[in-house]
Amino acid sequence: MSEWDGRFPHRDPLPYQTVEKPLKTSARPSILSEYHRCNHRFGGFFDSLLRSRLVTDEPNAVTLGPVEPGVIEVSPVGPSNYDRAGAADRRPRRSAGAPTMQTAPLLIVSGSNRPNSNTLRVAKIIEGHYRRLGAPVELYGLEQLPPEVFTPEAYTRKPDAFVLVQQRVLEAPGLHVVTPEYNGSFPGILKHFIDLLKFPESFEGKPVAFVGIASGSWGGLRAVEQLQMVFGYRNAHVYPDRVFLPGISSKLAPDGTLTDPALDGRLAAQTAGFAKFAHALGAAR
Ligand SMILES: Cc1cc2nc3c(=O)[nH]c(=O)nc-3n(C[C@H](O)[C@H](O)[C@H](O)COP(=O)(O)O)c2cc1C
Repeated sequence: MSEWDGRFPHRDPLPYQTVEKPLKTSARPSILSEYHRCNHRFGGFFDSLLRSRLVTDEPNAVTLGPVEPGVIEVSPVGPSNYDRAGAADRRPRRSAGAPTMQTAPLLIVSGSNRPNSNTLRVAKIIEGHYRRLGAPVELYGLEQLPPEVFTPEAYTRKPDAFVLVQQRVLEAPGLHVVTPEYNGSFPGILKHFIDLLKFPESFEGKPVAFVGIASGSWGGLRAVEQLQMVFGYRNAHVYPDRVFLPGISSKLAPDGTLTDPALDGRLAAQTAGFAKFAHALGAAR
C-alpha cells in the first residue's frame, strides 16, 4: 500500500443526476464480444457497473444500459431498475468540478447484536488491519442499534440515534460487512438494519466487502451470498474477494485475535485490497 495517501475521495451521498429522453444506438458485434469476454473474466463486474449507471457531472452525460446481444443501449443517466418515481426530483445536482478530498472513514458493520458476539470480535480484527494501513475507518456493531428501531413507527420516523448511523453509511466510501450465519442465512437484525437505511442512496454505487463467520464448515458462505443478492439489487459494487471463517469459536483466542495466521492473512489481504478498490471507485465517480 505504498501509494496509499490515507484519504478516500469525498463521497456525495446523493451522487447522481437525471436527464430525460433515453437514446439507443447500435454497437459492432466485435465490441460486444469483447465486452462479454472482459465481463466474464472479471466475474460480472462490468455488468454490475452498468447496472449502477456510470455517472459524470456533464449535463449530457451518457451511460451504458443493459446489454442485449447485438445492441448496446446508450441512455442518459437516469433512474435504474426499480421504481424511483419522484426520487429524481428530490436529488440535488452535484456541483461541477473535481471532487474534494476528505478523510471520510470506511464503515465496518458487525452484523449481529448478540451479546458476546464473535462477529464483533472479527470486525475488530478487521478494524485493526485498516488502522495498520493508515486508512480512516469506523466500526458499527448492530448491538448499538437503539431499541426504538424495533417499533413499527421506525420505518416512518427514524430514531435520532439511527439517523446518525444512517448518515455514516451514506458518507462512507465503502462498507465492510461482517456477517454470521444464522439458520442458513444472515441475521434478521442485519436485514432490519438494511431495510431502515435511506433508500435508494445508501448502497447505490457503494463499494462493499463481505466476511462470513459460522460455527459450521462453510464459514458463513450462505449468509454472504444471500447478502450479495440484496446488495446487488441495491446497485452496490461488491468487492469480489470474500473471506469465510469456519468453526469460528475454536479460531478466536481469548485476547480477540485469530489463532490461524492464514485466516488472519486473508483478512489483511482483503482489507488492503478493498481500501484500494473503494478509493479507486470513489476517485472514478
Ligand atoms: C440463531 C443462530 C443460528 C445459527 N445458525 C447457524 C447456521 O445455520 N450455520 C452455522 O454454521 N452456524 C450457525 N450458528 C452458529 C453461529 O454461526 C456462531 O455461533 C457465530 O459465532 C454467531 O455469530 P455471533 O457470535 O456474532 O452471534 C447459529 C447461531 C445462532 C445464534
